[in-house]
Amino acid sequence: MDSQNKRGVQKWTRRQFMKGMGAASVALGSGSGLAAANPAEPGQGASEPPIQATLKIDLERRLGEVDINIYGNFIEHIGRCIYGGIYEPDSPLADADGDRKDVLDAARKLRVTQLRWPGGNFASGYHWQDGIGPKAKRPARYNLAWFQLEPNQFGTDEFLKVCGKIGAEPYLCVNMGTGTMDEASYWVEYCNHPGGTYYSDLRKQNGHAEPYKVKYWGLGNEMWGPWQIGHKDATDYAKAAVEFAKVMKWMDPSIKLIACGNGDPDWDRPVLQALAQHADYISVHYYALTDELKDDYEILGSTAELDALLRASAATAREVSAKAHRSTPIYTALDEWNILYNWSDGAKRNDVHKFEVPYNLRDALWVAAAFNVIHRHCASVRFANLAQLVNVIAPIQTQPDSILLLTTYYPLELYASRAGRVVLDVLNESPQFSTRNFGDQPYLDVMGTYDEGERIVKLAVVNRRKEGDALATIQFEGLSAKGPGRAFLITAPSLDAQNTLDRPHTVSIREAHFTGSGDRWQYRFPRHSITWLEFSV
Ligand code: AHR
Repeated sequence: MDSQNKRGVQKWTRRQFMKGMGAASVALGSGSGLAAANPAEPGQGASEPPIQATLKIDLERRLGEVDINIYGNFIEHIGRCIYGGIYEPDSPLADADGDRKDVLDAARKLRVTQLRWPGGNFASGYHWQDGIGPKAKRPARYNLAWFQLEPNQFGTDEFLKVCGKIGAEPYLCVNMGTGTMDEASYWVEYCNHPGGTYYSDLRKQNGHAEPYKVKYWGLGNEMWGPWQIGHKDATDYAKAAVEFAKVMKWMDPSIKLIACGNGDPDWDRPVLQALAQHADYISVHYYALTDELKDDYEILGSTAELDALLRASAATAREVSAKAHRSTPIYTALDEWNILYNWSDGAKRNDVHKFEVPYNLRDALWVAAAFNVIHRHCASVRFANLAQLVNVIAPIQTQPDSILLLTTYYPLELYASRAGRVVLDVLNESPQFSTRNFGDQPYLDVMGTYDEGERIVKLAVVNRRKEGDALATIQFEGLSAKGPGRAFLITAPSLDAQNTLDRPHTVSIREAHFTGSGDRWQYRFPRHSITWLEFSV
């Protein structure tokens, strides 16, 4: 079965499961007649008058604290993600290790807190011993997940060095498809054992005297999907995963394990029951599939499906954790999320450019709203990985002599570099748009954080309305804003706008000041835009 069909099966399964789970309900807002805190600068090309919304902020109403591990990313051996992406020794832009300096710089600006590798589907056929030691002696293999040659020039030591360069914690996914328990525990030994054993001494021989102390380990990837090499049913996976978990944790009890889940209680429950004393996280993946959804509002509304999936994952994990008398629940790891297109025709065998998506403004809006959802689930989602970092469904695209930052790069940068620690429960009264798949959804998607020490509120507002702006009354409970504040805006004249080599900055972040002060003021959010507001209270 090729990758296109694999995706088709996954799509069908998810839709069936999610039926009837989405659709948040939000009341209609009304105008207040207050003056706008930003200059009345209608979104370019707006064809309809602004809608009215109200956002209510109360510092006492909190959803929890952000775990910085939600700013994770992912690199897999697929297309040009590794070879020609992060690693390109022949490039004039490569450093002494062969890593692209421009890609590393762009990753640093995204503040990637943890980085997943080597897959994805690739992990289920990967033998890590192929990728260590002298490069000339490493075997070339055929990558059966993505039908490409795997030269094994980028392996464990190269990956862990990249993590060090960008300041990310490594997150390794073990092979539970064709791999064995021995391979998994030896990998922990190679990375984390101090020395005096076969694999820890091999690591030293390969130039790394000190243990890497890799903390995060995934127990397989999407083992529930028939496209996976070594696909299993829940019972078989749970049985195998417990045995893998035991030997891996016996090798290093300090590691954290991410069990393979999918948000469906029929899979997650038996897996979590078996792993209740071993797993620290249960994974779930979400992709908005634009090939299927097609319409802009269907695509933008699909973040409701992500919201429902995260709720389902947390509910099962909480239930099983409570029954197992765990002192802390097993948390959700959304260790793949993104918006996909050209998936159905991009999976040709040996096409090195597969899945290189030219993201547009609409996709940046989707990423921002999805990030809002992830932040609002901060109590249960403690780990997340955008899939993927470079070239493959990625915000960074490489050319031989440069990189291009695509539209989705900018919301990722904004959130990871500016969000506060406490997530507020902002009351969002926004008019809604209708969708066929996800019910009615608010035009404005809103997420607020608060920096306790500096007393700064940060508000991320995604205006998903195409036809016109939104005029929102921002109202505070028991506090006042001390203007002026800072505003960061991402928008463009059209939802289709892309960054291209000729016009690399069509969609990027523009900074502005605004005057909002007091306990009630208005802000005009341009049509199809992401606005990030910061103000002292
Ligand atoms: O990110 C691309 C692929 O999507 C991953 O390899 C797999 O886990 C998922 O199906």
